[in-house]
Amino acid sequence: MLYAFPQLYEWSLKKLHGPDLKKRFDIISSAIGQNQVLDIACGTGMLAEYLDPKAEYQGIDLNKRFLKYSAQKGLNVSRMDVFDFQQYPEADTYVVCDLLHHIMPNHQKLLKNILAFGKNVIVCEPAVPNKSKLRRFVVRGILDNDFINPPRLDLDWYTETELVQFYKETLDPTEIIKVGEDIIAIKQVAKSAKPEDVHNKSLSDISPVSTNA
Ligand SMILES: C[S@@+](CC[C@H](N)C(=O)[O-])C[C@H]1O[C@@H](n2cnc3c(N)ncnc32)[C@H](O)[C@@H]1O
Repeated sequence: MLYAFPQLYEWSLKKLHGPDLKKRFDIISSAIGQNQVLDIACGTGMLAEYLDPKAEYQGIDLNKRFLKYSAQKGLNVSRMDVFDFQQYPEADTYVVCDLLHHIMPNHQKLLKNILAFGKNVIVCEPAVPNKSKLRRFVVRGILDNDFINPPRLDLDWYTETELVQFYKETLDPTEIIKVGEDIIAIKQVAKSAKPEDVHNKSLSDISPVSTNA
């Protein structure tokens, strides 16, 4: 349902996250700075609203309605499967926001292939509060069904501790930051055009889960 109506999707996200949505996208945007970004599974392209005006935005997704809506906003988006790695446009930073839990159990494969590009990678995912079967059915089976990935009701997403561990093992991130229910991992490998921007503005509002660097 949410994935059939782009405006409803955006409205629901704003209601669900409240002020944390802006904090989430501000952190991601700060790490991108004024560079090129590929938004992998861009949805309705919400990230683009928070970017530095000098950043160069490209998005890929498979949802035709979301892509049409994003294109109407003037965003540079293309219809592409996120597993079609050979077709990825070049960018300084690859962002994977709210996607991994949709594509499990192939989420590790996706990240490994993206890391192989050797660019900055930012991953943002929610952590589940518990592994209740009812929650899994309602969220995975109904609310968060994207109609691209058949819902895997036999699999559950990570709790906060598990997600942090997954980030550490898979990404070796420079920084891990918790914002509301979301946990963001930032792996900076390339020199940013404005490195001082990475730790800016509202970061003091946010409690770091842990830092590796
Ligand atoms: C929860 S939305 C996240 C959208 C956006 N990144 C955001 O943070 O608002 C998940 C998106 O993943 C897209 N998606 C899922 N599987 C995909 C695939 N194999 N290739 C491209 N897009 C995919 C869906 O169409 C949907 O727009």
